[in-house]
Amino acid sequence: MTSQNFDGKNDTITPEQVQYWDQKHLIHPWSEFSEDGFDMTQVSRADGIYLYDAHGNKLIDGPGGMWCVNIGYGRKEMADAISEQIMKMTYSSPWFTTNEPAAMLAKVITEKTPGDLNRVFFSNGGSDAVDTALRFVQYRNNVIGKPDKKKILCREKGYHGSSYLAATVSGTGREHDRRYMDTHHDLAIMLPNINPYMRPTGTSVEEWCNAKISEMEETILSIGPDQIGCFIAEPILASGGVIVPPPGYHKRSLELCKKHDIVYISDETVTGFGRLGHWFASKEIFGIQPDIITCAKGLTSGYLPMGAAIISESLIDSIKNKDGSQPFTNGYTYSCHPVAAKAALTNIDIMSRDGILEHVRKISPHFQNRLRNLGKKYDIIGDARGVGLLGCLEGLGSKNSSEEARLKIDTEFGQMMDEACEKRGLLVRPIINMCVFSPPLIITQSEIDDMFDILEDAIVEVQQNYS
Ligand SMILES: Cc1ncc(COP(=O)(O)O)c(C=O)c1O
Repeated sequence: MTSQNFDGKNDTITPEQVQYWDQKHLIHPWSEFSEDGFDMTQVSRADGIYLYDAHGNKLIDGPGGMWCVNIGYGRKEMADAISEQIMKMTYSSPWFTTNEPAAMLAKVITEKTPGDLNRVFFSNGGSDAVDTALRFVQYRNNVIGKPDKKKILCREKGYHGSSYLAATVSGTGREHDRRYMDTHHDLAIMLPNINPYMRPTGTSVEEWCNAKISEMEETILSIGPDQIGCFIAEPILASGGVIVPPPGYHKRSLELCKKHDIVYISDETVTGFGRLGHWFASKEIFGIQPDIITCAKGLTSGYLPMGAAIISESLIDSIKNKDGSQPFTNGYTYSCHPVAAKAALTNIDIMSRDGILEHVRKISPHFQNRLRNLGKKYDIIGDARGVGLLGCLEGLGSKNSSEEARLKIDTEFGQMMDEACEKRGLLVRPIINMCVFSPPLIITQSEIDDMFDILEDAIVEVQQNYS
């Protein structure tokens, strides 16, 4: 790559220069502002499931970007479709015009959603899709004369984004945030962790589920159902560490919502568009019909930013015959963006044509098998969990190791695995004592084996050093 310097000469841009600009000028998500800059892996190009760093090293993209690059990198037909749409019509205001890609995408999405989830609001990503869903519930309750029904039930370890409202309903982040990042605490009612791995010794998964449902109902009754507008839940709590709720939990929590007239929002930002082998996971995998689904990420496979809040026809109908002439004053300059919509349509075409959902369903048992075998084989793995092409390894300090080694595993296992994997050619996402992965959905069985072989070697290294 070249750049023009101030003398007008072309200089080659070095990886060191990029690193310097990064540390001097760029603020990344969830940045720490410490004195020392942090050397991030510099990614220069990507193809299929692979990233190449600035030194030419080839890395399997374990996290699939950020749970998003579902069809893999470098698809020429995506580039062509995006470029054609730019030349045809780059932008149209969603306030007073419509355009073919956005309208067609809304139709195509609603053909894939369960039940009467027929109305689509487009956003720029997941956070504002969540904001839109929550603001819609508030708006609706004002319109139908229930202005007190506004509180939001949400969950510890849930993550719904970084806008003020999405962060308010996110449990993940609060562990760090409490003293430094403000949220609207009064609005959110945080239900305790549902992770079956956290259940007390001697408690069965079924008993744990019963306890979680009772806890939820007691909370609803103590706050008062007339105060609670909605419940927001990820089918799998992704950023909280790929937490798979106990069997039956989703159905029973939906039943509670129905019983107490609470809108159920399923945040499928991660699970939507194929991660678990279906367009959406709520109905197909967990058997629930939400009132609203939010999605983003896999919608465009990360080629362009876009998200959506998909709202049921019955919720819309319930305001039509009330004060529905009051506008829902929520919107973004880039809602209904024609180029992003074209990317999403092309992404969906590729997924359908290449049978990517079927591929995920076929390949997931092998992925999950290899994941669970690591949990069985190594003491340092406290839990190996996942579903579809989502996985998490949670580290556990050995009872026989020193206090210092145990503390290190409890706080830095993710980081240690990240380092041990990267030098072997795999990126993972470290989260405190966990490392998580969600590779592009096009990954083959032999690439899954490559990935787990590296994970296994990395575990051996970390275990040798800290047990
Ligand atoms: C479940 C879920 N919801 C919402 C978001 C926020 O999406 P975005 O970062 O696109 O705003 C995320 C991001 O990871 C997510 O995992």
